[in-house]
Amino acid sequence: MIIASAPAKIILFGEHFVIYNQPAILASINKRIKIVSRIALENKNTIRIETNDFGKKTYPLSILKNTDHNSNNDFFYPIIYILKRIVQNTEKINGIDIKIESEIPYGVGLGSSAALSVAAVASIYGLYNRDSKKNEILDLAIETEKLIHRNSSGADCVISTYGGLMYYQKKLNFRPLKYSKKLNFIIINTGVKHSTGELVSVVERFRQNNFTTFLKLSNKVTNICNNAIEALEEGNIIKLGKLMNENQILLDQIGVSNKEINKIIDMSLNYGAVGSKLTGAGGGGCILSLINQEKKEYFLTNMRRNGYECFAITIENQGVKVKI
Ligand code: PMV
Repeated sequence: MIIASAPAKIILFGEHFVIYNQPAILASINKRIKIVSRIALENKNTIRIETNDFGKKTYPLSILKNTDHNSNNDFFYPIIYILKRIVQNTEKINGIDIKIESEIPYGVGLGSSAALSVAAVASIYGLYNRDSKKNEILDLAIETEKLIHRNSSGADCVISTYGGLMYYQKKLNFRPLKYSKKLNFIIINTGVKHSTGELVSVVERFRQNNFTTFLKLSNKVTNICNNAIEALEEGNIIKLGKLMNENQILLDQIGVSNKEINKIIDMSLNYGAVGSKLTGAGGGGCILSLINQEKKEYFLTNMRRNGYECFAITIENQGVKVKI
C-alpha cells in the first residue's frame, strides 16, 4: 500500500500574467489531498477508484490498453491516464484499488487538480516500485494536469510538488522565497466554481484587443512581485497587503474579477484585512485576505456573520509526501 499526499496552493501575486511569462509568487497551504493505492487482493480485473466527495467508479483493467476511452466527461480520467503512463511497459497487471481523500475544495482556485495529479503520480509510481524523484513526479503531474487545463503555466504542480513559498516563472524557473514574519491568511470561498480554461481565454481575448495596455499591466505585475519579495524578506505586512490590493486592481482590469468578488474584497478590507485579492483564476473561486493576528477572530466572525465560508490557512513547507 502506498500513501501519497500533496498540498493545495494559493497564488499571492501574478496569476494569469504568469501564463505570459511574468513572475508569480505562490505558496502551498495546510490542506492536502491524500491518495492511497494498493494492488487489489480481490477484484483482480478491475481498477476501483473511491473518493470522499465524488463517489466511486470501477473500470475494467482492459481500459489501460484502450486508446479510445472517452475522457471528456470522466472526472477520474487523470488517474486512468497516470496508470496508463506508468504501467505501459508492465507485462502483467493486477487489479488496483485507489482511494482519494481530499480536504481541498474543488474548482475554486486552490489547485485541487494539480494536487490530485501530483499525489496520484507519487502514489502510483510507488506502487510499481519506482523510486521516483520529485522532478519525475512533477513532469508526469504537469502532463496530466494539461489534460484538465491545456494552457497551464505549470505553477500549481510545481508548488504542490516542492511546497513552501515560491517565486515562479514559466519554463520551470522557480526558487524558494524567504519570509521573516508569520503570514496570517484567510481564504473566503465565494462558492462559485470556475473553469480555469474559460478564464484564461477571457484574458487572452483581453490581451488581443488591448495589446499595449496588457503590456503595461504585465510590467506592473513584475514590479509588484519584485516589491513583494522585498516586503516578505522585511516582514513588512502593510506593504505586502498594499501590493495585494494593487494586484487585485490589475486582475479586475483584465476581466477576471466580478461584482461579488469586489464586494467580498471591500468587506474584507472593512473588517481589517491589510490586503485582499482573488487567488487563482477568478470569476468566482476564492479570495485571499492578509490579516494581522489580533484581527483574525474579529474578521472570521464578521465574514461568517455575513454568510461567507472562510477559514484561516498557514503556509505548508512540505510538498508531496510518500509513505509505504
Ligand atoms: O484557479 P486555478 O487554481 O486553476 O489557478 C489558475 C492560475 C492561472 O494563472 C490562472 C493559470 C495557470 O496555469 O497559471
